[in-house]
Amino acid sequence: MNNLTMEEIVNYAKQYGFIFQGSEIYGGLANSWDYGPLGTLLKENIRNAWKQKFVQENKYNYGLDAAIIMNPKVWVASGHVASFADPLIDCKKCKARHRADKLIEDFTKGEVTADGWSNEEIENYISKNNIVCPVCGKLDYTPIRKFNLLFETSIGVTDDTKNTVYLRGETAQGIFTNFKNVERSMRAKVPFGIAQTGKAFRNEITPGNFIFRTREFEQMELEFFCKPGTDLEWFGYWKNYCMDFLRTLGLDSEKLRMRDHSKEELAFYSKATTDIEYLFPMGWGELWGIADRTDYDLGVHQEASSQDLRYLDPETNEKYLPYVIEPSVGLDRLLLAILSNSYTLEEVGENDTRVVLKINPALAPVKVTILPLIKKVHGEKATEIYSELCRKFSASYDEAGSIGKRYRRADAVGTPLCVTVDDNTINNGTVTIRNRDTMEQETIKIEELEDYIVKITTL
Ligand code: GAP
Repeated sequence: MNNLTMEEIVNYAKQYGFIFQGSEIYGGLANSWDYGPLGTLLKENIRNAWKQKFVQENKYNYGLDAAIIMNPKVWVASGHVASFADPLIDCKKCKARHRADKLIEDFTKGEVTADGWSNEEIENYISKNNIVCPVCGKLDYTPIRKFNLLFETSIGVTDDTKNTVYLRGETAQGIFTNFKNVERSMRAKVPFGIAQTGKAFRNEITPGNFIFRTREFEQMELEFFCKPGTDLEWFGYWKNYCMDFLRTLGLDSEKLRMRDHSKEELAFYSKATTDIEYLFPMGWGELWGIADRTDYDLGVHQEASSQDLRYLDPETNEKYLPYVIEPSVGLDRLLLAILSNSYTLEEVGENDTRVVLKINPALAPVKVTILPLIKKVHGEKATEIYSELCRKFSASYDEAGSIGKRYRRADAVGTPLCVTVDDNTINNGTVTIRNRDTMEQETIKIEELEDYIVKITTL
C-alpha cells in the first residue's frame, strides 16, 4: 500500500493530463478543477461502469436525464430552500471561516460526526473539547449561523426576485418529480428504480481536498421505489450492491468500510443511513451515502404539487406512496478514490522505479497503445493497425523515444496493453503485446488483437 499524499495525486493528475486547476491562466478559481484529456476519458468510463451496473445490468432500474434548472417550487417542497444549510462559524481572532461540524469531524479524525446535531450541541462540543481554530489556534468563535448551500440564479431578462431559480443541489429531485412519468411510460411495477448522473451545485463553505469537496460536482444517484415494509430488506440489498461494485472497480477492501449513522445523526425523515467510506490520502471520508428515505420525498411533492403520486398496486388494488432507498455517490469523489487507489510507484530492478496506474483495465482512459519499433521501418504498418483499433477502443499511437520510455509513459497513465509492431509484424503478421502489470510479453496474430483487448478490458 502506498502512503500517498494528496499533493502527489494533485501533481500526478496535472502532469499526465487528468485534472487541471480551473481558470489557471487567470490565477485559478479556488476549488474549481477542469478535467483534461485523460481525466475526461476516465470520468466517462466510471460513469459508464455505473450505468452498466445500475441500469443496464439491473432488471429493476431505468435511466433519466432531468434538467439542472427546475421550477423553484421543487426546492421549496423538498426542504432545500428552508434548511439545506451548513453550520457556519467564524474565528473572531483571525476571521477564518469554518464549517462547525467539520471542525468536530477533523478534531476526532472522523470518529464523531455532528450530522443532525443542533447548533447548541455543536457549540457545546467545540468548547468542551477545546477545539481551537485550525488557522490561528485560538478558541474564540462567533455563534453558529446557518448558511444555505443552494446557488441562486435568475431566469429571463429582468433581475426580479420572482425569477429566482436554483442550480440543483442534488440530482435526486429530478427523479422524484418524474416518478409518475417513468412509472406510466415504462409501465413500471414497484419495486423499481430511476437512476441518473449529472452535475450538482452547492455553495460549500469549506470546499477542499482537491476534487473531494467542490462547489460543482457530478452525482450518480439511484432512487429505488419499494413497498413500505420491504424497505429495510432493499436497503441491505443496495448497500451490498454498491460495495460489490466498488470492489469490482478494483478499490482495495481494506480501504473501504461501512459506517451506519447513529439515531442522533439520522435526518428526521430517514429510517436508516449507511455511508461507504474510503481511506483517501487525507484520511477516511464519505464516498457513497445509502439512505432509507421512507416516503418523505414523494410525500412532500405530492402535497406541494397537489398531484396524486401514489402507486396503485395492480395485484392488491392498494394505493400507497412507495418508500425510497437512495444510493448516492459523487463521481468526482469516486474518481479520486480510484486514482489514489491505483497510483503506484513500483521498484523494477536495481535503482529503477516506474510510475504505474494499476487501474481496472475497463476504466483505463486508453486501452491500448501502438508502438512501431522503428518509426521509419514499422510506422506505416503500425498506423494501419492503430487506425483499425481506434474505431473500437480508446487507443493511442506513440513513436517518440526508446521503446522502454514509451512503455513507461503508457504505464504511468494506466494503459493496460502495449502493442509493438516490428519486422515480425511485416513478415509474419504477428505483434508483441505487453501487459502493464506483469510487464510480460506475448506474441499474437494481428487478427487476434481485437478479441484479446476485449477480454482484458471488459468489466
Ligand atoms: N441526494 C442525496 C445527496 O445528495 P449527499 O450525501 O449530500 O446526499 C451524495 O451527497 C454524495 O455526493 C456524497 O456521498 C459524495 O460522494 C457526493 N458529494 C456531496 N457533496 C459533494 C461535494 N461538495 N463535492 C463533491 N462530491 C460531493
